Amino acid sequence: MPSRASRKPLLATSSGELMPVAARLGPRDDAVRPRYERMEGIRDLWIASLKLHRVQYVFVSALSAYEIGYEWHNDRGFPIARADGTVVEYVGVAEDITERLKAERAVIDAEERMRFALVSCSNYPAGFFNVYASIAKRADLDAIVHVGDYIYEFGEGEYGAGAAINRIPQPARESISLADYRARYGTYRTDPDLQEAHRLFPFIAVWDDHELANDAWAGGAVNHNPEKGEGDWAARKAAGYKAYLEWMPIRESSEPGIHLFRTFRFGGLVDLVMLDTRALRDRQVASTNAAGLADPHRTLMGAAQEAWMFDELRASQRANTPWRLLGQQIMFAPITPPGTRPTNTDAWDGYPAQRGRVLDFVEREGIRDLVILTGDAHSSWGFDIPRNPWNGYRQAGAGSLAVEFVTPAISSPPPAMFGSPNGTEAAAAVRVALPHLKYLDGVRRGYVVVDVTPMAVRANWYFSPDVRVHSDAEVAGGSVVCERGSAHLQMA
Ligand SMILES: [Fe+2]
Repeated sequence: MPSRASRKPLLATSSGELMPVAARLGPRDDAVRPRYERMEGIRDLWIASLKLHRVQYVFVSALSAYEIGYEWHNDRGFPIARADGTVVEYVGVAEDITERLKAERAVIDAEERMRFALVSCSNYPAGFFNVYASIAKRADLDAIVHVGDYIYEFGEGEYGAGAAINRIPQPARESISLADYRARYGTYRTDPDLQEAHRLFPFIAVWDDHELANDAWAGGAVNHNPEKGEGDWAARKAAGYKAYLEWMPIRESSEPGIHLFRTFRFGGLVDLVMLDTRALRDRQVASTNAAGLADPHRTLMGAAQEAWMFDELRASQRANTPWRLLGQQIMFAPITPPGTRPTNTDAWDGYPAQRGRVLDFVEREGIRDLVILTGDAHSSWGFDIPRNPWNGYRQAGAGSLAVEFVTPAISSPPPAMFGSPNGTEAAAAVRVALPHLKYLDGVRRGYVVVDVTPMAVRANWYFSPDVRVHSDAEVAGGSVVCERGSAHLQMA
């Protein structure tokens, strides 16, 4: 393979950033660890593509990973396409890429539409990846946006028990070291449904906490315990990050530090800003810690990312791009009614000052048509985003500044409050308490199809009947639509 230095510069397209490479998978039978020696063959080249506004975006699998001792590295971010749709060059494997393009999944040629699956929380021992199987049956998607918990760090039985369905991830204990995380991704990638999803669609991924450890923050995690011999957090975080970069189709950031925020621009229709609310955040506080919750200095994004995000949104608005999407981890909508305590201070409700700064910015700068894409909650929600749902907001949408779609888990169990025998009553009470809540399903595993056209963004939820039984069956759930200019969800 050519060295990095011999590569020619990227060609820019007129309408935005080129896409990162899609994931590279090993053969199904021996993907438990990275088989770097197989990565140089063209047989490992997988491609998906998206045509939007006459620009061909090409996603190429990371076939050119190469060996440096045990270390191996993906080369990222050099699919190269011209506005006429032909591929100019792919360094190292240029010979028959256009033929392979034709042979792969048909190019979606909808000029002014982008449609992707929004997913999160794929827990290997908790159930089969039926959601990936359902998604793989679809012919209408341009990409899969995974907003985190692609793996879980726990040992077998700690959060998800896979023995009964023969899904015990390696290592069987909690992942802590680089070797552990590598092995864990390896197990996940043996899953045929995940492999097929990667084969068919480009992934746009960002991590949440479990790619490192439960409830991670910049300087630690609830599930990181040095006193139990788990070592230094910085070392663990670096190990988790390294394994993530090795296994996931993602650009390396040019910014220093450990984080994953970055932007994707699709053909003047969508600017997708992917946030990292995990690696740079201040520590969570208890729901009883009123002073901590009110602290205006606590951050969820870090100052640099916050400034960067504001720049991205401002530039997108000024360019008159119809839609700004924020792909991120945790629930943004306020769900703590006045006089109550937050139920989850790991979400934006635990960082109200940070959320206030974002909403201040959105209002001050006139940022319109903002859609927040969220995972983490293991349940399905659709929200209007007013500054205060209980004061100055009307359910017909007045006072809303944005909307939010929350995708359920692929396989992780639902929250206890909804999964309990009283779950139906609990959901009914939540609906009454949250005037800006437009859709809720508390218990089912599934995904969201997000459909973007110049005039509207629509979300359709789909659910797997039972993730403990391997199946690609699905049932349709709710559907909501946000018309351009409305910042408001309506049932579709
Ligand atoms: Fe999760």
